[in-house]
Amino acid sequence: MTAAPEAATGLSATSAGPSATEPVVPPAPVSPAPVPRTEPTAEGRFAGTVVLVTGAGRGLGRTIAEAFAVEGATVVVAARTARYGERTVREFRERGLSASLVLGDLAERADVAKMFDEAVTRHGALDVVVHSAADNAQGLLAEIDDDALDYLLRSNVHALHWITRAAVPHLRRSKLPGRMIFISSGAANRVFSPGLNAYGSTKAYLESFARGLAGELGPLGVRVNVVGPGLTVTERMLGHLTHAQADSLASTYPLGRAGLPEEIAAAVLFLASREASYITGASLLVDGGASMVPFPARGAMNDSTSH
Ligand SMILES: NC(=O)c1ccc[n+]([C@@H]2O[C@H](COP(=O)([O-])OP(=O)(O)OC[C@H]3O[C@@H](n4cnc5c(N)ncnc54)[C@H](OP(=O)(O)O)[C@@H]3O)[C@@H](O)[C@H]2O)c1
Repeated sequence: MTAAPEAATGLSATSAGPSATEPVVPPAPVSPAPVPRTEPTAEGRFAGTVVLVTGAGRGLGRTIAEAFAVEGATVVVAARTARYGERTVREFRERGLSASLVLGDLAERADVAKMFDEAVTRHGALDVVVHSAADNAQGLLAEIDDDALDYLLRSNVHALHWITRAAVPHLRRSKLPGRMIFISSGAANRVFSPGLNAYGSTKAYLESFARGLAGELGPLGVRVNVVGPGLTVTERMLGHLTHAQADSLASTYPLGRAGLPEEIAAAVLFLASREASYITGASLLVDGGASMVPFPARGAMNDSTSH
């Protein structure tokens, strides 16, 4: 079965038309990236903090880790695949950014505990946790096989509890105090993504989990928030879609283009920052308005979404 990419939310021919007063802006291609700052800054928003990012070997997690490091944080790159994690840490260090690596599979409770123990032993504190890693097993709900389902649930649901259990004792002692940001998806409860409904269901669990956790940790001063990306240009997304397909999908969004990892990272850093001091239990969609575009009627989907 070929499953649709998660963010195949914009297949509808319905598009947001220009208003009478605004100029018509043609949809931008997926590629143009804002120019990120590349040097660490001593006065950065996160100078002196320790930030652990899961799934930081590549993709969105890597960009989030980079953004924190550029803002002065020491980042702990938590990765499952050693070669990605090692490459990320090496490249960060070559640029003068402060980074170290912890390796493990979040589907394994013992690995989660070990990664957090190593991070705190090495750096003496933990101030921010960003949980970006996620398995994205595909399959129809009635057909997804048990092994895939088991790994999906352990990676995306059980791991939420294991990460929280490992992180909270340290976050509550943080001088900030601590913050947690969970990466969700528009697929959690807003869009229908063919082939990714089991994955989307785990993101719905994540959203509810994070809201509840915000309530539990608020009295400790620890803030918990969620960022929900839409179609975002990462390796994974480009494994499902060509650039042309992504451009075509995204052209139906109100903002007319796919998101960039840097744009998701900016939202994460905002929620972790002092500027968001009164925000907890929030879920911030960063999707260019994709969730407002109706999914096309049955039969109107292209080849990439056929089952
Ligand atoms: N890109 C999008 O369009 C999009 C849209 C909505 C939401 N998101 C969310 O954004 C986050 C990052 O996605 P992405 O596009 O950057 O995908 P990605 O490139 O596939 O990155 C996912 C990361 O999660 C890690 N991971 C998966 N299962 C793991 C496990 N059991 N233990 C440890 N690490 C594990 C992967 O590790 P390996 O390197 O070992 O594979 C990888 O580093 C995810 O939470 C995803 O649901 C992405």
